[in-house]
Amino acid sequence: MSQRSEVGVSKLSKNEFRDIIGRFASGVTILTSRAGDRDFGTTASAVTSLSDEPPMIIICLNKTSSTAAAIIEAGTFAVNVLAEDHSELAGRFATKLDDKFRGVPFERDEYESPLIVGALAHLTCTVGEQVEAGTHYVFLAHVDDGVAIHGHPLAYFRGAFGRMQTAPDASVLRIVRDRLLELGSDVSAELDHVDLAAELQAEPEMVRRALGALVEEGLVARENGSFTLPPVPEEVLFDHYAAKFALEEGVARQTIGRVTPEQLATMRGLMEETADLVDGATFTDPEAWIRTNNAFHEYMVSLAGSRILLDTYRRLGLPGLERRTITAETYATESLVADHRAMVEAYETEDLDLLLRTLDEHAVKPRYYRELEKRQGASA
Ligand SMILES: Cc1cc2nc3c(=O)[nH]c(=O)nc-3n(C[C@H](O)[C@H](O)[C@H](O)COP(=O)(O)O)c2cc1C
Repeated sequence: MSQRSEVGVSKLSKNEFRDIIGRFASGVTILTSRAGDRDFGTTASAVTSLSDEPPMIIICLNKTSSTAAAIIEAGTFAVNVLAEDHSELAGRFATKLDDKFRGVPFERDEYESPLIVGALAHLTCTVGEQVEAGTHYVFLAHVDDGVAIHGHPLAYFRGAFGRMQTAPDASVLRIVRDRLLELGSDVSAELDHVDLAAELQAEPEMVRRALGALVEEGLVARENGSFTLPPVPEEVLFDHYAAKFALEEGVARQTIGRVTPEQLATMRGLMEETADLVDGATFTDPEAWIRTNNAFHEYMVSLAGSRILLDTYRRLGLPGLERRTITAETYATESLVADHRAMVEAYETEDLDLLLRTLDEHAVKPRYYRELEKRQGASA
């Protein structure tokens, strides 16, 4: 053990300390208060639960903070726990701007402190004690009221905002997800996490957690404590199509006018293979459609010559998702094939506008036909 340094004299510079303590990941809040007819708010991560009975928290605020001054004056404040899409808000409330609240929807608690709409949780607090420590005030506060909604928190780690990933190891989550997408709908009613773990050579507990995380994504369902593979909700599929379109649009811009005659011939060949698989409003062979349609799209993405991009595209797992949504009863349309033809022709004539327009329509078409199918089902 090294010798203890003199009490209160640190061996660390301010920057060293910040760098080290920055490893302590936290959530992010906006503390708000109203004093002298003005609203105050500051981004703060130094917020900690203190006592359960009575419910109390600690917040630490720099003595230079105008929000700290307002809290001292009002004796009350609110905690707004930020959700993962609130990084812009967190950035704004970390400034000294006068109009931080402009355009931010909020309500008020019983002490008039602003409660930001969309925050994951709100706490209404009364200051109990105030202590000075170094550059900061420490407030020990009573929690008078609170409310929470579902969602994911904004996280802060080493000076950057991010998302919090709950327990399943990210790599296990990835292999479980990939495997489930490969399984398609050809799976028994129940998913046994121990069997799956043996197959994937992963820790059963990790696999169980990964399945739990995939419930949130809509890829797995939980019924009476067991996991099952439900049909994929439409929003999940359409969300993937939106991502597919974003990738294909980028590829289109990069590759049009730069493909060789051989590549064009391959693309045309793959396109023709998709053509026979739609008859009127029916997929004649859903499995063959899914396979050939994917081969065609994947080939277009491969034209960009980027393995990372192709890998990202494959990660979307579209064939697996489609196997869990497309059946012979699914409403099809020959215009899906016409789109493929238009894409090849756009490449052949180097018509970027046509290509982008077609890709865009192609991505929204499944959504449109699903709506139509639903309406026809309802009126039948
Ligand atoms: C992620 C993050 C966390 C922060 N946490 C705190 C904190 O816990 N306490 C604090 O005094 N300042 C904290 N700050 C800095 C304040 O948000 C910043 O100084 C702000 O300008 C103060 O505004 P005000 O003077 O209007 O109160 C944090 C900033 C960021 C970006």
